[in-house]
Formats: sequence, C-alpha cells, structure tokens
Amino acid sequence: MKQQDKIICIFGGAGFIGRRVTQDLARAGYRVKIATRIPESAFESKTCGNVGQVVPFQCNYSDEASLKEAISGSSVVINLVGILFEKGKNNKFERVHTELPASIAKICAEENVQSFVHISALGIEESKSKYAKSKLDGEARVFEEYPTATILRPSVVFGPGDSFFNMFAKMATFLPFLPLIGGGKTKFQPIYVGDIAQAITNIVTNKTCKYKSNIYHLGGPEVVTFKEIYQILLAEINRDRALVTLPWGIAKIQGSFMSLMPKPLLTRDQVKSLETDNVVAKGVAGLKDLGVEPTAMGIILPKYLSNFKKGGRFANKNAA
Ligand SMILES: NC(=O)c1ccc[n+]([C@@H]2O[C@H](COP(=O)([O-])OP(=O)(O)OC[C@H]3O[C@@H](n4cnc5c(N)ncnc54)[C@H](OP(=O)(O)O)[C@@H]3O)[C@@H](O)[C@H]2O)c1
Repeated sequence: MKQQDKIICIFGGAGFIGRRVTQDLARAGYRVKIATRIPESAFESKTCGNVGQVVPFQCNYSDEASLKEAISGSSVVINLVGILFEKGKNNKFERVHTELPASIAKICAEENVQSFVHISALGIEESKSKYAKSKLDGEARVFEEYPTATILRPSVVFGPGDSFFNMFAKMATFLPFLPLIGGGKTKFQPIYVGDIAQAITNIVTNKTCKYKSNIYHLGGPEVVTFKEIYQILLAEINRDRALVTLPWGIAKIQGSFMSLMPKPLLTRDQVKSLETDNVVAKGVAGLKDLGVEPTAMGIILPKYLSNFKKGGRFANKNAA
C-alpha cells in the first residue's frame, strides 16, 4: 500500500504533540484524519498537506459508535488524548487515560487496524499520583484489547506551543520569583516534540516489527533537575528571578487550593508526580531504538522562548 492510500487516524491530533505529528505524517505523504471533539481546533493543520490530505473529523469520545466511525478505514491509529488535571464529572483521569484508550484499542482490533500507537507517560510505574495510575492502567487495558500496540512514554515535552516551558517563561515575566517545589531536585529528561513526531513517523513507516519492545521510554539527551530547567529558561529569556523553595507539604496545600481554579497552574496530584524522577531507566527501549537521535534543548528553546525576553523578541537591535 502506498503512503497516500494509508489513512492515519489521530485522536488528540489537534493538541500540542498531535499538531507536530500531523505535520510530519502529512509531509511523509500519509492521509491524516484528526479525530477531535472540536473540528475547528484542527483547521490550521489542514494546511500541512495537499487539499483533502488532512481532515478534521468530529468525534464524541464517550460514544462508541462515534469512535468506530473515526477509526473505520484507517490503517494506523494514534492516541494522543490526555489531561493534566481533573475537572468536573467528565474530565476524570480514569475516563480519559484508561477507559478511552481501552475503547479505542478494542475498536482497532475489531476493525483490523494494522497498527495502534498509544502515548502514555514516563515514570508512571514509580509515581504515586492519580495521573500516573490512570496512565499505567490505560497501558494494561490497551494491551488486553490490542496486544501488539506500541506504547510511547515521553518525559516532559518541549517545542513551540508546549505548556511546560511557555508557562514558566510567562510566569517569569510578571513574578519576582519562581517556586522550587520540594527544592527543585526532581529530575527530568525533556524531549523535543519533533523527535516524538519522528519516532511515530518511523513506527508508521512499517518499522515496528523489527524492534524489541512494545513500550518505548522517550527522553532527550540531557537529564536536568527542575531547578536547572528554571536556570536554563531564565538564561534563555535573559531574566533574573529568585528561586524560592516550596516544601512538599506547603506545595500540596497550595495545589489543593489551586485545583479549585478553572484551569489550575498546579494541583495536589501534580505535586505528587513531582516527588519521583522522570528519567529514562537504563537498559529499556528508547528513542534511538526508533531510529531517532535526540535533539538538545539549546537548539530549540531559543526559537520560541525569545518572545519572553525583556522588551520582546526584537529587543536586541541585532535581532531586529
Ligand atoms: N506534553 C507533554 O509534556 C507530555 C508529557 C508526557 C506525556 N504526554 C502525553 O502525550 C499525549 C499528548 O500530549 P499533549 O501535550 O499534546 O496534550 P494536549 O495538547 O494537552 O491534549 C491533547 C488532546 O487531548 C484532548 N483532551 C484534552 N482535554 C480533554 C478532556 N477533558 N477530555 C477528552 N479529551 C481531552 C484534546 O483533544 P480534542 O481535539 O478532542 O480537543 C487535545 O487535543 C497525552 O496523552 C499526554 O498525557 C504529554
């Protein structure tokens, strides 16, 4: 089957990672169906391909018939749906990270989809957070329904439009200090969104069978603490900010109160997530096994964080 005859259905394709995955798959010649609750949110991605190559498809994630309609006729299905905090009755980790992937995987098996790629998260075996438990349960349910699924577990992801670096850079523009939760010692291995998209493209381009694992742990070339991430970020945007330690107990109380906000910057569960490191263990299958050389933060961060510099992107006369 030629690339242009293959339909790749991406759940969550209108999100941060999904936009980049769509772009790379469209560039590789595939037809992309973006399954989304809000088709308008994916309209921009239509310009990634030729006319009709990238198509937003309205989908109700709670309705099996709607999921089936999205999946039917696809050669490959990718699930990128995820949330960072729970809100209200419907936005529960269990529903989004466990039940939805299981339903998608079940329909993929019934519809004879050739390949199913599910995005989970790094460090979920060690973490005691509800987020991690729901992701881990989701992986188990996916394998029950679709045993040959490929699961990717990324560390924190950076790139244009990310929520992590952009949020802290924005905070640094108006706060005199940045909070170091638990002293900022938690380790991360930030990974570039373009590397995840490349890994997924390699999987789609029939390379899955030659790899040794169904689960890939994805991290970038650098292991850094939360404190070091702040330092890198502040150097990048050329701002000086005090880094103030917020003990775990106080951070949890603050997270509990902030959870009441419509879009909380921090929740108690996220503080729990920060209690364990988020790095790739030794000896597991990773990015290189998927044929991708990880990209350093220093290459990418200047391209999108410069807007947060004092005076803006063109504050330096030589940059204007
Ligand atoms: N970004 C990271 O640093 C990171 C790190 C580790 C793992 N991951 C995982 O990678 C996947 C993609 O991450 P991302 O950063 O691209 O996510 P994102 O942009 O925040 O969201 C992806 C999609 O999730 C759907 N979604 C959001 N809230 C929802 C809700 N309440 N109910 C149902 N669907 C909802 C949306 O789909 P619609 O189009 O329907 O609105 C959205 O486009 C997620 O599974 C995430 O957990 C991300």
